[in-house]
Amino acid sequence: MLQDRFVEVQDLPRHAADPDTEVTIAGWVETTRVHARVAFLVVRDGTGLVQCVLPRGEVDEATWELGTGDLPQESTVEVRGRPKADARAPGGVELLITGLTLVHRAETYPIQPKEHGVEFLMDHRHLWLRSSQQRAGLRVRAEVMQGIHDFFHDRGFTRIDTPILTGAIGESAGTLFSTEYFDETAYLAQTGQLYVEAACPAFRKVYCFGPTFRAEKSKTRRHLTEFWMVEPEVAFADSDDNMRLQEEMVSYVVARALDRCAEELKVLERDTSGLEKVAPPFPRMSYTEAVEFLQSKGSEIEWGRDLGGADETVLAAESELPTFIYNYPKAAKAFYMKENPDDPRTVLCNDLLAPEGYGEIIGGSQREDDFHRLQTRIREEGLPEEPYQWYLDLRRYGSFPHSGFGLGIERTVAWITGRPHVREMIPFPRLMNRLNP
Ligand code: 4AD
Ligand code: MG
Repeated sequence: MLQDRFVEVQDLPRHAADPDTEVTIAGWVETTRVHARVAFLVVRDGTGLVQCVLPRGEVDEATWELGTGDLPQESTVEVRGRPKADARAPGGVELLITGLTLVHRAETYPIQPKEHGVEFLMDHRHLWLRSSQQRAGLRVRAEVMQGIHDFFHDRGFTRIDTPILTGAIGESAGTLFSTEYFDETAYLAQTGQLYVEAACPAFRKVYCFGPTFRAEKSKTRRHLTEFWMVEPEVAFADSDDNMRLQEEMVSYVVARALDRCAEELKVLERDTSGLEKVAPPFPRMSYTEAVEFLQSKGSEIEWGRDLGGADETVLAAESELPTFIYNYPKAAKAFYMKENPDDPRTVLCNDLLAPEGYGEIIGGSQREDDFHRLQTRIREEGLPEEPYQWYLDLRRYGSFPHSGFGLGIERTVAWITGRPHVREMIPFPRLMNRLNP
């Protein structure tokens, strides 16, 4: 079996205790350095990097020739050797080579240890993934996603997988991808929310977690056309409960990344001092207060307009913690949000703005649970009514107060890792001008 034939680099320290053990690793050559009497091969196997030492005279001549000859970057090798503890080596272990097998001699690798333009790197995304900072960022992403699953699983939420092909518009008509669906038109899901709402009376606390699609004609560092979103939905939770769940989840996820991705954050040169302070409660500001605050800073924003990216940056700069902005004007938000009984010009909703200029990472709300008000909102938005009949059924058969939110994974990971652009936070980004690789 494969596991028996090859040891993983991350497990080498365990094998280094016994000076007579020989192990074989399999991986890709990152660099080679050849001197007169000794050569060094740095090999990456996907679990770590190890420096392999090739001493002339202690291996047969063919092995020396292979290790010091034409061995381009990213060639695939199997290396047999004795692991030796060495505090100076990356990972704390060196491998003293006793045998070397070339599995594949790579062609000249396009990504060289020098500055490349980002379009070049994006064109080579399938190879760029192997670079240390990309590996680190995507590991943090994987840990964040697993952390989110664990957070909800531990709290008794049931995961509900929602469809990607849908018949009803989830968020707004302006950013829909549509596709032929036999004799109909299908939309790629902008959100799983309407479906998790339907699952609430069956399971009470639910969440979906999957790719969502927005035909956003925005070339900003915060926008992807395909991004991943986690969307919990909770029966009998109001807007305040909803914000409490958000600050708990975000704090949990940040702590988890700090705890389990310390190495990766170091590779990314992330200053983690701000992240270490992330804990509930987060500051809260109403939309109306936010507008007044922005005006006091010289902004020309008027009450009723949605906040833009620049406004969000100004608001978030007030705190090292993420900041809630709640109860936006109805006209600035989606049709499903519950009217605020204390001020019917607004809805019971919130955005959560990340610190350090990363912008909105969460949008959430209490849902309109009144049949007539929801139907009126659907009509006011000019949405076709037929595809929403099932959604209206939820207000016909046992309507209930409920709330939920959506957290965008790439924006959250960009913030945690301190990287400027969401495009590096997903393995294969889809952008307005990019469908390949
Ligand atoms: O605020 P949004 O549009 O909310 C919803 O979709 C609701 N249905 C969520 C819910 O209540 N269940 O999107 C939620 C989050 C944003 O805060 C942002 O983090 C992310 O999704 N997001 C994007 N991320 C990357 N690229 C885009 N184009 C994004 N659009 C939204
Ligand atoms: Mg939003």
